[in-house]
Amino acid sequence: MLNIYKIIAIDGPSSSGKGTIAKLVAQKLGFDYLDSGAIYRALALLVIKNELTVEKNLMQIVSLITTMKLSFTQDGVFIDNENISAKIREEKTGMMASILGKNGLIRENLLNFQRSFALKNNLVTDGRDMGSVVFPQAILKIFLTASAEKRAQRRFNQLQLLGKSVKMESILRDIILRDEQDSNREVAPLTHDSRYKLLDNTSLTIEECVSKIVTWYNDTIRCS
Ligand code: DC
Repeated sequence: MLNIYKIIAIDGPSSSGKGTIAKLVAQKLGFDYLDSGAIYRALALLVIKNELTVEKNLMQIVSLITTMKLSFTQDGVFIDNENISAKIREEKTGMMASILGKNGLIRENLLNFQRSFALKNNLVTDGRDMGSVVFPQAILKIFLTASAEKRAQRRFNQLQLLGKSVKMESILRDIILRDEQDSNREVAPLTHDSRYKLLDNTSLTIEECVSKIVTWYNDTIRCS
């Protein structure tokens, strides 16, 4: 079916502010929002809970994708009736999501679910391969990034606010490891080409990023 809805794809490394910024852009423009990382994280949670590994239980993981009842609501992310919004943000879940993300069969089986979000309304979505693989037709593609140190500092501040005792060095190490895993994998690596607009927010506020993306979107619409 021809997709008539407009899509803004925001890809970038972990803790680059994609989620916060994508959500605000969606609110400003009246678009729906899809956090594709939350899908990988929800699957990761089930994989951890069932003590599965990609090496030994790939087909079981693939069948979890078809059976998991994942929903996004105003109150958060749910599997069946359980609100998993907090659990999916844990470091170990993010790391498992990144491991699952390296597998082509898992990625392929998540495609239709992700694409179904663009069948009802215009969409802002964030992830690693939203503009390159999932929604190549996106009208605007942004590659959002910041230095690893800045991203580690932001993550550290977030975790401290949540009352978690964390070490800056281990956060930075995790960020560098996840960048490496997400960028160097064979399937759908985190990457960008000339169709992407690069937005480095090391020294920009959230509001400045949102306003830049909305301006780019309006310019794109005017010229199309
Ligand atoms: O965006 P995030 O940090 O919530 O994503 C968690 C992990 O999920 C990320 O390290 C890699 C994987 N992921 C992916 O491979 N492709 C996406 N589109 C989104 C996330």
